[in-house]
Amino acid sequence: MLGSGLGYRAELAEEIDRHADRIDWLEVITEHYLFADEARERLRLLARRCPIVPHGVELSIGSDREPDAAYVEALAGLVEEIDAPWFSDHLCFTRTDRVALGLLAPLPRTREVARRLAGKAQRVQQAVGRPFLLENITYYVDLATPLTEAQFIAEVMEHCDCGLLLDLANLDINARNHGFDAIEFLQTIPLERVTQVHLAGGIDGEDMALDTHGEAVPSRVWDLLDELVARTPIQATLIERDTDFPDDFTELLTEIDRARTALTARPAELAGGA
Ligand SMILES: [Fe+2]
Repeated sequence: MLGSGLGYRAELAEEIDRHADRIDWLEVITEHYLFADEARERLRLLARRCPIVPHGVELSIGSDREPDAAYVEALAGLVEEIDAPWFSDHLCFTRTDRVALGLLAPLPRTREVARRLAGKAQRVQQAVGRPFLLENITYYVDLATPLTEAQFIAEVMEHCDCGLLLDLANLDINARNHGFDAIEFLQTIPLERVTQVHLAGGIDGEDMALDTHGEAVPSRVWDLLDELVARTPIQATLIERDTDFPDDFTELLTEIDRARTALTARPAELAGGA
């Protein structure tokens, strides 16, 4: 088990150093280190202290074409160099043949798209040589597609042996914006494939909940973590704070502690089998 970690951000670097003993592991943004020698050297030093997981935003596994070979090769090198236990990216596309979108765009949820994506994810996992976790994103426009989000994820998992990074804040926001039941979602996806969790907070806009990853983790998301952990063993949680960093770092440390407590407070029948 990796334990309870924090997303590494430059704004938090000093406090992370100061409180290294309170943080089990760190997740870094892959693209900040892929082709950046200086940053890479700092990452190597960091990796001597605790486990590091690269979390990508630019693989664009949902694009029609195969992932960029140079990117995948560089990713494999990074994963190897820091001995990452796994790596992750998002269930989305971020580029078309001509345009880099600059955002995580949702996919049409059809069986064909799910199967094609699964094939690509499997090939990337094989090329990199470590487990590849796919993360659920938030989306504000829900196209009329045949599969629900949970069914789409289940279909992807059916056709590859990658894992899942379940962002519980994204699940909570999508469930409220699109009117589905988060628990039913948990009952539909293959929970045994969930290796890692993201925990974050958003804000409630006038008409919809907004994913900012810039607020404290709300009680609804903590409740979902309890629901998840009661059903399946999870190897790692991560507090993912991207903006509006608190003046008092203790707030994040308290969240890290709370996640660790939830992670280890599993029912006896699950804890015994893990
Ligand atoms: Fe996330």
